[in-house]
Amino acid sequence: MAINLSKVSFAYYVPRKKKNIKYAVKDINLSIGDKDEFITIVGHTGSGKSTLVQMLNALLIPTDGCIDISGKIISKKNENKIKLKEVRKKIGLVFQFPEYQLFEETVLQDVCFGPKNFGITDVTSKAKKALELVGIKEDIYNESPFSLSGGQMRRVAIAGILASEPNILIFDEPTVGLDPLGKKELLELLRKLNKEEHKTIILVTHDMEIVGEYSKRVIVLDNGDVVYDGDKTELFKNEKLVKEHSLDLPNNVKMLKVIKEKLSLDNLDIYKYNTYDAYDELKRVLGGNNE
Ligand SMILES: Nc1ncnc2c1ncn2[C@@H]1O[C@H](COP(=O)(O)OP(=O)(O)OP(=O)(O)O)[C@@H](O)[C@H]1O
Ligand SMILES: [Mg+2]
Repeated sequence: MAINLSKVSFAYYVPRKKKNIKYAVKDINLSIGDKDEFITIVGHTGSGKSTLVQMLNALLIPTDGCIDISGKIISKKNENKIKLKEVRKKIGLVFQFPEYQLFEETVLQDVCFGPKNFGITDVTSKAKKALELVGIKEDIYNESPFSLSGGQMRRVAIAGILASEPNILIFDEPTVGLDPLGKKELLELLRKLNKEEHKTIILVTHDMEIVGEYSKRVIVLDNGDVVYDGDKTELFKNEKLVKEHSLDLPNNVKMLKVIKEKLSLDNLDIYKYNTYDAYDELKRVLGGNNE
């Protein structure tokens, strides 16, 4: 198991007398594999999502409890004993608006910065491989990153994280501010990294369409607590839970649900997350010709 959280809490401000301490995340137990997982983390604003993911790559150290990252124990007690760089190399965190972190003179230099900083060898070829993976063509390697479009900048920033070859990639609301095509391209890239490169992807989002279409496992946070951790369809089936934590159903599920109820189609499976699957399911149940 790659990441194991045991009774992890985090408070941004810890008063000297630990009374009335306000935790942003509290008492969390989680296990995350370092291969093939595609996890979304949802929950309304202020529920602790960004705090949690920053602890997953040891950018924030838990106030209480500990995180075992492939045998390295991260806790307040041995904060200074752990080589945090080693951890951050293996678990890449991409912030919201990662393009703000670009700063080098050329695209290629920027992508090389991360792995160089981690003391990785063969930096240029790893950077080029990462740029290829995110679909950035060679003819702009020597351009200034600031001359690129928003979507391209974000790809370059992601390549900068990929170049260190992390097993786990964490994205905090990566599609915010992108146009529909940029959003789709980015999500397909994450799908490719998951399916072909076997990376574990952890994605923080407010968007239930992304949860439905891309993730397998979903973690719901509410007020710093994990209130659900499991299969997405099981979550959507639990309408009480969905309502209680101010979540929503994906549009296709909502639409199929209405059709099922209005037409009394008892055997219609409403948990279809893209238009093609929804269409096939309707065709299966309603019959008719094949066009
Ligand atoms: N730098 C900070 N200093 C003090 N409190 C903070 C800080 N960052 C977050 N908090 C508080 O910690 C709690 C959790 O915040 P966090 O940013 O983790 O939530 P979130 O789920 O990511 O929210 P959002 O959906 O708005 O991004 C909130 O109560 C927030 O006000
Ligand atoms: Mg956040």
